[in-house]
Amino acid sequence: MQSQLRKDLLDAFTKADGAYLSGQHIAELIGCSRTAVWKHIGELRKEGFELEAVRRKGYRIVKTPEKITADELRLGLTTKFIGKNLHYEETVDSTQKIAHRLAYDDAPEGTVIIAEEQVSGRGRMARRWHSPKYTGIWMSIILRPNISLPKAPQLTLLTAVAIVQAIEELTGLLPEIKWPNDILIKGKKVTGILTELEAESDRINSIIIGIGINVNQTKEDFPSDLEQIATSLLLEKGETVSRADLIKGIFTNLEKLYLLYLEEGFLPIKLLWESYAISIGKKITARTLTQSIIGKALGITDDGVLMIEDDHGKIHHVYSADIEL
Ligand code: BTN
Repeated sequence: MQSQLRKDLLDAFTKADGAYLSGQHIAELIGCSRTAVWKHIGELRKEGFELEAVRRKGYRIVKTPEKITADELRLGLTTKFIGKNLHYEETVDSTQKIAHRLAYDDAPEGTVIIAEEQVSGRGRMARRWHSPKYTGIWMSIILRPNISLPKAPQLTLLTAVAIVQAIEELTGLLPEIKWPNDILIKGKKVTGILTELEAESDRINSIIIGIGINVNQTKEDFPSDLEQIATSLLLEKGETVSRADLIKGIFTNLEKLYLLYLEEGFLPIKLLWESYAISIGKKITARTLTQSIIGKALGITDDGVLMIEDDHGKIHHVYSADIEL
């Protein structure tokens, strides 16, 4: 619950309309001590507000966190099932973890878990996934397709297409896909997808698709080890991008493609995926756990497996690897 003091403080800043408010003035306006003002300002900063402090002038809010609300996401959403059952959380360890639990408890297909922040976000190959508050989209979607286990990677590829289309529609940017599931803009990663599943023998019970999108991070928001390899939509577009609109766009495209997939199989999705892929037709290096394969990326099989032709004409099927272009 927001305290009355916090609400009054935000009202005071709203009325100031971008002008500076001194600590003393705020304290008088909302009837508290200057120490209390200072404490609340510290808490606002922790929540993602950017406040500028200038000596003798006071404070002014220069950036608000673009917080997503569940109501905002529901408003105007026209999908039949994706995002209809929506769990919105402030801070979680990982949305994947929650999704697994919900899937086990029979959550309906299309259930989505979105968090403003993940403290133990996970990426592929047991890597961590940096998921700071209010800046990105961190979500997991539960699907329950009636398909066999080897076909599961097709859904990762399908998701990548849905995200690329949604980014393109909303921002006009032209993202590309790097096999299997990285989405890049000008060579830097903007999105990662992590697909995990629950299965019994050869049948899939549920697929949990984890999506991480860097939306409104500034350069300073990235830790130094990611600075050179990651980017955000804000950095590429030069303006803030609405996370709520992007999420809704992804739900819409994902549902459309998923229904097409269930109806017509993987071929139409594969063609779309290949049209967005950067690696196809190029010389690449694929580093698997055991070896490095250098050669020309020919395309993907119907199971989403990458085919690489080496210099001796031998075709390798790569199931999991890091790709260097
Ligand atoms: C990758 O390594 O490229 C995949 C990253 C996937 C990150 C997302 S963020 C939402 C979901 N929850 C997680 O802990 N991971 C995925």
